[in-house]
Amino acid sequence: MSAETSPDGSPQTGDAGPPATELDPEALKLFALKVWSYKMGEVVSLMIHLGDRLGLYRAMAGSGPLTGADLADRTGLDARLVEEWLLGQAAADLMTRHDDGRFELDAVSAALLADESGSVDFAAGAFQGGTPPEVVDALARSFDTGVGITYEEQGAVATAGLARMNAPRTRQTLVTEVLPAVDGLTERLTAGTRVVEIGCGGGVALATIAAAFPNSTFIGIDPSPTAVELARQQARVDSLTNVSFIEGFATDIDRATDDGPAGLVLAFDCLHDMPRPDRALAAVRDVLADDGILLVKEIRCTGDFDRDRRNPLLALLYGFSVTSCLQSALSEADGLGLGTVGLHGDRLTDMATAAGFGSVTQHDLGEPNNLYYDVRP
Ligand SMILES: C[S@@+](CC[C@H](N)C(=O)[O-])C[C@H]1O[C@@H](n2cnc3c(N)ncnc32)[C@H](O)[C@@H]1O
Repeated sequence: MSAETSPDGSPQTGDAGPPATELDPEALKLFALKVWSYKMGEVVSLMIHLGDRLGLYRAMAGSGPLTGADLADRTGLDARLVEEWLLGQAAADLMTRHDDGRFELDAVSAALLADESGSVDFAAGAFQGGTPPEVVDALARSFDTGVGITYEEQGAVATAGLARMNAPRTRQTLVTEVLPAVDGLTERLTAGTRVVEIGCGGGVALATIAAAFPNSTFIGIDPSPTAVELARQQARVDSLTNVSFIEGFATDIDRATDDGPAGLVLAFDCLHDMPRPDRALAAVRDVLADDGILLVKEIRCTGDFDRDRRNPLLALLYGFSVTSCLQSALSEADGLGLGTVGLHGDRLTDMATAAGFGSVTQHDLGEPNNLYYDVRP
């Protein structure tokens, strides 16, 4: 903790800058509104979490206009609290309040907030109800020490939230849209090949492909025991017999290829989280068959802040970075510290070339936040 803040984050000494009287009051008001809008985002996020967790959105989806009492009846929840939650949702423009005082979730809102298996944009996994105080303390400490916290240290709720956040799009598009975009990949998986996923997290991607290609075998690796346990549970739920998971770093990938080289390695949304993605790529190259494929999913970014600002959610990505991705990327003393928006196409190409790969082909499949790269020896 730095000298200027107390353990709860409140200021201890205060050179707060020039006195407010010298500042334009209108500019101050406008700026205050901007700052408070972020506080509003924080509490509305918690309301979204409650709406998902308590089944409120699902109870409203397709039901037409409802009163608070109707919704309380349908969900078995307290009518007064439900009414207040509804008013807050209407104030946040997440649903409509009709003139007669009834509330309605329209089809677009329902797709985003209630339809986990049918909408690629379902968001509730990202709304976990806040960051545990001990994790916030660890984040603050990292600014003093320069050493970040791993995904495991970010907590089980974050691990489960991340898996759930990525699941809808993965389940709906990985086999039907992403894999067919890579030349020859679907045919190879159909015939049967050895697949390893590094940084597999909760295992949704691997489980999804394993279910579609029973002739291939799949091994997921992740250093987080919580993520690996979640991935094993997922495989059990999906009754998969061709997939297994081991705890380990990407550089331990040789432990997954005892039986021969890998035909396909997946690195989904994880290279920028690794302290040493350069070493991970070199380890992958060592175990990949000469005609093998490394399929990388990375964040859509350019390496140029002004161009990246075209993304209206760029501040969200930097927030994810400071609280999660960059933390992980700095969790070892010699970490390169790429972070969420740190691995753009040119940098990946340079790193892959240095690791001994011969070609990197980018695939833009129109996903708002991701690009794919087909990396070959
Ligand atoms: C953002 S999550 C992505 C998880 C999953 N691939 C997905 O798409 O949902 C990043 C994952 O990378 C893992 N990770 C971090 N450092 C790693 C390393 N050195 N080797 C392998 N995995 C690592 C984390 O534990 C975490 O599960």
